Amino acid sequence: MNYDIKKYRSDFPILSREVYGKPLVYFDNGATTQKPKSVIDSISDYYSRYNSNIHRGVHHLSQKASFAYENARATVQKHINANSANEIIFTRGTTESINLVAYSFLRNRLTPGDEILITEMEHHSNILPWQSLCEEKGAVLRIVPVNDNGELEIASLQKLLSPKTKFFAFTHVSNTLGTINQAKEIIELAHAANITVLVDGAQAIPHMQVDVQDLNCDFYCFSAHKIYGPTGIGALYVKEDILNDMIPYQTGGGTIKTVSFEKTVYVDGPLKFEAGTPNIEGAIGFAKALDYVNEIGMENIAMHEHKLLVYATEKMKAIPAMRIIGTAKEKAGVISFVVGKIHPFDLGTILDQQGIAVRTGHHCTQPLMERFGVPGTVRVSFGLYNTKEEVDLFIMALEKALKMLS
Ligand code: ALA
Repeated sequence: MNYDIKKYRSDFPILSREVYGKPLVYFDNGATTQKPKSVIDSISDYYSRYNSNIHRGVHHLSQKASFAYENARATVQKHINANSANEIIFTRGTTESINLVAYSFLRNRLTPGDEILITEMEHHSNILPWQSLCEEKGAVLRIVPVNDNGELEIASLQKLLSPKTKFFAFTHVSNTLGTINQAKEIIELAHAANITVLVDGAQAIPHMQVDVQDLNCDFYCFSAHKIYGPTGIGALYVKEDILNDMIPYQTGGGTIKTVSFEKTVYVDGPLKFEAGTPNIEGAIGFAKALDYVNEIGMENIAMHEHKLLVYATEKMKAIPAMRIIGTAKEKAGVISFVVGKIHPFDLGTILDQQGIAVRTGHHCTQPLMERFGVPGTVRVSFGLYNTKEEVDLFIMALEKALKMLS
């Protein structure tokens, strides 16, 4: 594989900066990724050359902006192999996508005693909307446990699927453990029990090729900023027949066919869910980011990150009192860890002073922290531009921090 890391790194202006006089080692890609120049330029280009509102004007600029926005939708469609661009709703990101499904799809279909199934490894964003819906409707939230390696217990999942289960939401890749769930097989199990499935793809989308038709999920959601695109925009994939049967999440301009004081008729398709002037520049930057990763190839990126994962894991295992939380067989480039009784925040702070950016804390997965008996972890998460040399710098910085703290 010809993985031109030098060239890819030079595509990201921020990677050449220093932090506290040290070269930046950016290992917080799970929180957000950095942006290539092509994405940054596409946003500046939009505002410099064709800023205009979309789907509302006959003039040249509006037509150009509308075309770019809808072209971005088609780019997202192709990237995840959706059947039609009508199956792609632009949202503010994964969190809004999940809330949209809870409100527009599930809320009117739940009755007291129904069950919603999630897993123990979910991000709070894939817990709270369902928990809140259960409280409102008198439904019950059921949880698929994870084993000591951080893998889903499939036997428990099978037992939990019952005629009462109305919906199953699970993450494709755990943001904290890195576990890659066998989504296709899991969806098959749920569908065999007649259960609608949402997959939270926020952490999967930057690390692997996602094919929603192959997965056969009903909903798939992700955020642009985790895949080298801008913040504040994401996509929700919904199978078209389900989408046509959903009520709007927010109402307002751009969602309607006709309005009178007596009655409003909404448009079909994704625009029904995109009330108000949308994040036009975000959609344009999002599409540019997908073009960028597709030029490198998602499989090449996955392979590169896997090598870093294996290399870093081996080096970390050699550190005394190191406990890696999340040792699943199938993992994306995410390593969560604690060392002895040292507080993750202290480690993160000393790493930062050496130019290494990591995330510390509960990673918005408090129930998972409880499962593993830790208040938080330090998390290293790789992106397409990280290198083995950066892993070496990180290990050196970590050893230095451990010496200072012990
Ligand atoms: N969900 C993001 C993370 O895991 C913010 O860091």
